[in-house]
Amino acid sequence: SKKWVLMATAQTPTNIAVIKYWGKRDETLILPVNDSISVTLDPSHLCTTTTVAVSPGFEQDRMWLNGKEISLSGGRFQSCLREIRSRACDVEDKEKGIKIEEKDWEKLHVHIASYNNFPTAAGLASSAAGFACLGNVQVYLFFSLSFIIFVFWGCYAYILKVHWWKIDDDFFSLAKLMNLKENPSQLSAIARQGSGSACRSLFGGFVKWIMGKDENGSDSLAVQLVEEEHWNELVIIIAVVSARQKETSSTSGMRESVETSLLLQHRAKEIVPKRIVKMEEAIKNRDFSSFAQLTCADSNQFHAVCLDTSPPIFYMNDTSHRIISYVEKWNCSEGSPQVAYTFDAGPNAVLIARDRQVAAQLLRRLLFFFPPNSDTDLNSYVLGDKSILHD
Ligand code: PMV
Repeated sequence: SKKWVLMATAQTPTNIAVIKYWGKRDETLILPVNDSISVTLDPSHLCTTTTVAVSPGFEQDRMWLNGKEISLSGGRFQSCLREIRSRACDVEDKEKGIKIEEKDWEKLHVHIASYNNFPTAAGLASSAAGFACLGNVQVYLFFSLSFIIFVFWGCYAYILKVHWWKIDDDFFSLAKLMNLKENPSQLSAIARQGSGSACRSLFGGFVKWIMGKDENGSDSLAVQLVEEEHWNELVIIIAVVSARQKETSSTSGMRESVETSLLLQHRAKEIVPKRIVKMEEAIKNRDFSSFAQLTCADSNQFHAVCLDTSPPIFYMNDTSHRIISYVEKWNCSEGSPQVAYTFDAGPNAVLIARDRQVAAQLLRRLLFFFPPNSDTDLNSYVLGDKSILHD
């Protein structure tokens, strides 16, 4: 019968790199030129929700992003779908009398609807969440983010508070729908083929994407670095300086950097391998000074590589630069780092405070130095837990 539809929904968090991935050694398989390390954000406020449906009535694979249909002809979607289909197993729903055998999956088409609850392509690693959603089966989270949104200089900001949190439920997704037996690391290698950074969203907490050595990419996958509840003092605040779509996509930006930047070659060979070792150590020891120093240095070097690219790529704007100067001065005046900053392929600041008190102070200072428009009622822009404002 063509009447049945089987559906599965997954919520996948985004992740923010503290040691950046920038540059591919293989564009088709999405193999990076260096290892990277990220922190996974809680999906309740910054995530992608993807519903996948399969039915014998569907005539082709189709996908909608935030309600708009998008083309699935791109190589990345096709690789992801192909990889997942080829691993699909038998699925049976006795109640509904539906049985799909392994061989049937090749013929069945899927419809995918994906929603981001944050600006797409504004440098908040939105693709990271999206592609991981296709592959994701289970996520352990240790950060819970509540966020506040307010207008500043005609733009707006998300402020996210983080505390440790763990979800034990299964998150259903295409992989779940098709009954894949692979573990999260193996699934991360599939998500990687959609968007590199997506592979790190398959785990909560601090995650390392190992670049791997194999030409076929089988060992280029994500692993979790520490237990979920390892560093629960950290608080992340994201200031969305601009929600505009970035001008240079990470795909073309990386390609141009690989082709033209000598700094990228030096960074990948000489700098990142040593930084990864130090960052793992800092995370293991909850050494905030070292963590902050490495995080800021790596963000700055990533943006230096962008400037070293021909033609140069500018992801940060004046407000981003002002935020960096401000944090640097604050850290210097305290004698040891209180806040770490990192910027992805966009102008938005990801600020990591060493604890809740520092985060509350940071929030107040951001409001003072980057004030919301005078006619803005702050409370009406607060989404989620506002308590940190009153600390
Ligand atoms: O996976 P992509 O193509 O969205 O690239 C993301 C690259 C950065 O966000 C800038 C760095 C990173 O490691 O996430």
